[in-house]
This record gives sequence, C-alpha cells and structure tokens, in this order.
Amino acid sequence: MKTFIEKLPKAELHLHIEGSFEPELMFKIAQRNHIEIPYNSVEEIEEAYKFNCLQDFLNIYYQGAGVLVTEQDFYDLTYSYLQKCADQHVRHTEIMFDPQTHTHRGVAFETVINGISKACEDANAKLGVSSLLIMSYLRHLSEEDAFRTLEQSLPFKAKIKAIGLDSSEKGNPPSKFKNVFEASVKEGYIPLAHAGEEGSAVYVWEAIDILGIKRIDHGNNALQDENLVKEIIKRDIALTVCPLSNTALRVVDDLKNHPLKKMMDLGLKVTVNSDDPAYFGGQVNKNYEAIQVALNLSKSDLYQLAKNSFQYSLLDENTKQVYLNELEVYFNNNK
Ligand code: ADE
Ligand code: ZN
Repeated sequence: MKTFIEKLPKAELHLHIEGSFEPELMFKIAQRNHIEIPYNSVEEIEEAYKFNCLQDFLNIYYQGAGVLVTEQDFYDLTYSYLQKCADQHVRHTEIMFDPQTHTHRGVAFETVINGISKACEDANAKLGVSSLLIMSYLRHLSEEDAFRTLEQSLPFKAKIKAIGLDSSEKGNPPSKFKNVFEASVKEGYIPLAHAGEEGSAVYVWEAIDILGIKRIDHGNNALQDENLVKEIIKRDIALTVCPLSNTALRVVDDLKNHPLKKMMDLGLKVTVNSDDPAYFGGQVNKNYEAIQVALNLSKSDLYQLAKNSFQYSLLDENTKQVYLNELEVYFNNNK
C-alpha cells in the first residue's frame, strides 16, 4: 500500500504555503535576514509544535511566517514545497497564501506574489508540477482589511485563481465576509473557504449560501446536519479533508475515528491534503498512508480520493482529463 500511495498520481488542494515552512529552512532564512526567533534548535521548534487547538497553532504559525521578508524568501519557501510535491507524485497543487500575514509586517504584496509565482513557474518547467494560487483572507481581521487586500491583488489578478478564508474560525463566521467575497467574485476570483473545522454546521451553511463557495476546506462539522450533507452533495461541492491536521488540532481525537470514510460512504466528494505539513507531522503522502492504515482503506478508495483531487481541482477540463488519464493508467497497472 505504501508504494501504491507513493507513486499514485494526485493533486493537493488544501495547502498553506506558510504552513509548509520546515524548521531547517526557517532557521536559514531567519539567519540571513538577521531576525531572531525564540528557538535555538530544530528540536526546540519541534517541541513547540504541540497544539491543543487551532488558535495555539495559529500563534506559532504567524510567528514562523514573520521571518519571510524578501522575494527570494517566498521563492525558496515555495520551491522547497514544490520539490516535495515532485517527490510524492503530486502532479498538481493549489497553494493558499495569506497576504495579510506579510503586508501587516510591512512586506509588499508584490514581494509575496512575485516570489511565490516565480517558484511555481520554475517548478512547472523543471519538475513538471503544475500549480495555481489561492489568496486567502484572514478571518480574524476585518472585512475592510480584506477589501484592502483585494485592491492590492488586482494588478496581479492573472496570477491568482481563487480566494480563500482561513485563520481563527470560531467567532468569525463566513457572513462577516459577504461583501468582499461578492466583490472578489466580480473580479473573477473563484470563492473557496475553510468551514466546519472548529465552527459548526451553521458556518458551513453560511459558506455555501452566503459566500457561494465552490469547495469547502475541511468541512468535518457538516456531518452534524443531514440536510446540509444532502445539499453539499446536490451542489457537487468537494471537501478538502486534512487527516493529520485534524488530529494535531484535536478536531478528531484519533485517526481511527476520522469521518473520511463515512463522508465517502454518504456520497460526499472528499480529497486528502496536508494543510500545514511542516506543523502537523507529514506531507500529503503521509496523510494518505496514515488514513489508509487507520480506516483500512482499499486501493479503490485511494484511487477515488486521487480521482476527486483532479476532478475537483480548479484546472480547465482538458488538463484535468490529462491527469485523470494518467491516474487511470496507473490504477489499471497497479490494482
Ligand atoms: N491557516 C493555516 N492553517 C489553517 C487551518 N487549518 N485552519 C484555519 N486557518 C489556517
Ligand atoms: Zn487550512
């Protein structure tokens, strides 16, 4: 099974680039920018990466992102992640980035987007990994602040495919961002959002009804409401599920109790993703491996998950088909 997963062609649809920041690279970049971080070793960083909830994690995650200053920093961060994609047979990835985490520290929007997008172009040419970008609004900040970010993004519109909504979910419902999502959609961005990670099914309803999202990041708590599940299926909206993130942040107590298989059995379209791999103990393949073992998933389940990852990507239909054909050939030869 491990080899089957390693070579399985797949897409990753839920990945925060700031969450892919491995301690080694963080040290290197902090040193070259002469920025102090409150850790003396990789071991100390790993010790700090023990969380009890989303907010504990976010505090450390924003601190880590604070060493990123130059275009080269964003380039190195992104290219390092894309190299890992190539090693894991991730053929396509949809990368979230949080502009406000950087612009609030005085880093220009342009620096962030240029560093990330150059790495994506190079990885496409050199590693054969395709990617697109999702600009995520931080939901603990105001809608007005998200509007400023939308404005800043407009000169770089061609480099950004979609918008997302992340950060502290509880107390920051999707409805808070109704106007900025509407304006973003008018600009041509596809609306996506985290919903139902720590927030209830009500937040998932708001995300699909008020924000009109095309894909739900996490969505675990949608299972609280049968009618919501039916509606998500009816609208053909996929859930980007992140198993190791869920256990690290105590959204799920044990992987054996993870709802992924139940979701699939109910008819929900689910994908497997790493979320913040540097913080949650594993890249996407490790997520596939861990959930396969915990829930005793079959090769055909894994094939379905990989198939969903291409099917529910934001790629054009022709490119999707190319990847789906590659997956089909792989599955037929390795059943
Ligand atoms: N930002 C980075 N990872 C996140 C997560 N799992 N939930 C909400 N915001 C995030
Ligand atoms: Zn996430």
